[in-house]
Formats: sequence, structure tokens, C-alpha cells
Amino acid sequence: MEERSIAIDGPAGAGKSTLARMTANHFGLIYVDTGALYRTVGLFVLESGRDTKDAKAVAEMLHDIKVDMHYDADRRQRMLLNGRDVTDLIRTPQASLAAADVSAIPAVRAFLLNMQREMAVRYDVVMDGRDIGTVVLPNAGLKVFLTASPEARARRRYEELAAQNVSITFDEVLHDIILRDKSDTQRAVAPLRVADDAVVLDTTDMSLNECFLWLCNIIEERLGL
Ligand code: DC
Repeated sequence: MEERSIAIDGPAGAGKSTLARMTANHFGLIYVDTGALYRTVGLFVLESGRDTKDAKAVAEMLHDIKVDMHYDADRRQRMLLNGRDVTDLIRTPQASLAAADVSAIPAVRAFLLNMQREMAVRYDVVMDGRDIGTVVLPNAGLKVFLTASPEARARRRYEELAAQNVSITFDEVLHDIILRDKSDTQRAVAPLRVADDAVVLDTTDMSLNECFLWLCNIIEERLGL
């Protein structure tokens, strides 16, 4: 139910998905990663060979897309694109760029809106994204805006990628973060912004565990969980 749900928004690399997953597991809520929906649409356009920035062409393609999500035995959200499991495919750098492009297209946002809202009707969710507190779940029981300096976010992302042996430099990761911030905050529709009633947490100088404890406290306080 929306009033019992938690909205977590913020820029790329602020730790939203890790913290949202941890808190969902801790309180027995369902974690909904909304970025995965935009990534799935982005992948479809990418695979079709069309221009991911072409709003008209992308809007027409939406008739041919069926996006579904379900949860596996490990409570991991899996994404289906026209029945095909694309959970891993949507994580490539190309899919990230395609997701950023298609997420700026109003028809794509409208296409995915109901699916997100329905999740919060059916379950008590921790939902992360860019416009959850402002657009998707305006009546969420708790809205958190997680942020950190671009350098801190790039450092975390760089360390994650290095651990996966992805060959990339820190400067490339920082450049990508700055570009994504620009497209997320400057797009005309549902741009990334802090909801009026959101609690802001700047995690630049905080460890993951400190952030998690802070979140648990505020959830217990606000939602009585
Ligand atoms: O969180 P992420 O990196 O997986 O998101 C992928 C892209 O989708 C990113 O460019 C921002 C966009 N997005 C959005 O516009 N609104 C959301 N609720 C979630 C993601």
C-alpha cells in the first residue's frame, strides 16, 4: 500500500539500490528497482537498431513491448522483455545509456507509470528511482533522497567495477556520473529533484552500514515498522 511504502530517489551511484535492497530484506518489504524498467525499454530499442533518442520512433515501438517483472527464489527482481529474461543484459554500459535516453521520453514514462504504481497497490514496497517521491508515489509513507558528491559516487562505482575486473578508469566513471546527473536533472519530464516532503541524506562521508542504520531508524520512527 502506498502509504506504507518507502520511496528512495537520488542521483546515479548514491547507493540507492544497495540500501533499498538491504532495508527491504530487513523489514520484509518488496524491493522495486524502477531503473530496471527503463533499462528494459532501452534494451529493446537498442536491439532494434533504432535511435534511442528518437521520441516519435520510440513511442511507436511501445506497442510491441511487453515488460514484466517477477521475483526469483532469492527475492531478486528479474526483468522479462517480451517473455525473455534480460535481467543481466540490461546492466551493460550500452543499456545504461539507452535507458538514460528513453527515460527522457514522456511516452516511455507514461508507459511504465502504472506498472510501478500497481506494485505499491499490491505490496508494501521500497521503490528506488528518480521520480518516485515526486511522481510515482506522491503519498509514500516515507520519502528519502540519497545523495553524495560526484567524486564519492564515482569512487564507489569505480571500486565495484574494478572488483568485477571491468577495465575502466576513475576519470571515465566520473565523467559518466556527471553526464547522467545532467540528463537526469535537466530533462523536461519528471526530472530528478528532491520532493518537498523528502528527508535528504548526504552519504559522502558515511559508510554503507552508517547509512543503513540511519535508514532503519527513520523507517521505524515514521512507519512504525
Ligand atoms: O537507476 P538506474 O541507473 O538503473 O536507472 C537507469 C536510467 O533510468 C537512468 O538514466 C535514470 C532513469 N530512471 C528514471 O528516469 N526514473 C526512474 N524512476 C528510474 C530510473
